[in-house]
Amino acid sequence: MTSSADSGLQITVVDHPLTRAWLAVLRDEATPNPAFRNALAQLSTMLVYEAFADAPEVSMSVQTPVATAPGTKLAAPPLFVPVLRAGLGMLDAALASVPEAGIGFVGVARDEATALPVEYLASLPHDLSGRAVCVLDPMLATGGSLVHTLELIAARGATDVTAVCVVAAPQGIAALRAWGRPLRLVLGVLDDGLDAANFIVPGLGDAGDRQFGPR
Ligand code: PRP
Repeated sequence: MTSSADSGLQITVVDHPLTRAWLAVLRDEATPNPAFRNALAQLSTMLVYEAFADAPEVSMSVQTPVATAPGTKLAAPPLFVPVLRAGLGMLDAALASVPEAGIGFVGVARDEATALPVEYLASLPHDLSGRAVCVLDPMLATGGSLVHTLELIAARGATDVTAVCVVAAPQGIAALRAWGRPLRLVLGVLDDGLDAANFIVPGLGDAGDRQFGPR
């Protein structure tokens, strides 16, 4: 695992034999949709685990069948925000890890000609002040979709924000830096760049299409 931080952007790349193995399944163009969805869920479990590494906890005691034991739980339930469509494939894994979390939805489709994000859904609590928010999107390419989503979240008052992405391009990282607000970014891998169509290289293709079929 490698971490770096500057200008309020804290990046953690989760690099582990299991994350690398599931990433290879996702990258493989021969992986069919059901196996792609499973690989994304497995990898998401590991990335979300890391995303909560520094989450505030409260202490409590639990009664085991034998004795009383000290325990902890998260201090407050976070809000997961999958970016539709592709982020939906990370949601069940995230909720399995943090069942008490709330859920908001942002739908953004990248315009194929301009690569600019076009919002078609924003279903979020009106007030997110004091709430930990964790955005889920497998792909960070130009960064347009994630920055758009982060703006929606910031406008509702959230300051404790984490984004979990499987694959990122340096251009997307630069967009988050230019955005300028504090953000924890947890990645499976940082790739080389973008091609002429703004697809991540080598990447894994279109994570929405590979889960759900073409739009
Ligand atoms: C993909 C991906 C991200 C976005 C990344 O979604 O899931 O949301 O593109 O690109 P960007 O960083 O350049 O904005 P897409 O627009 O293909 O929609 P989909 O998830 O419905 O397939």
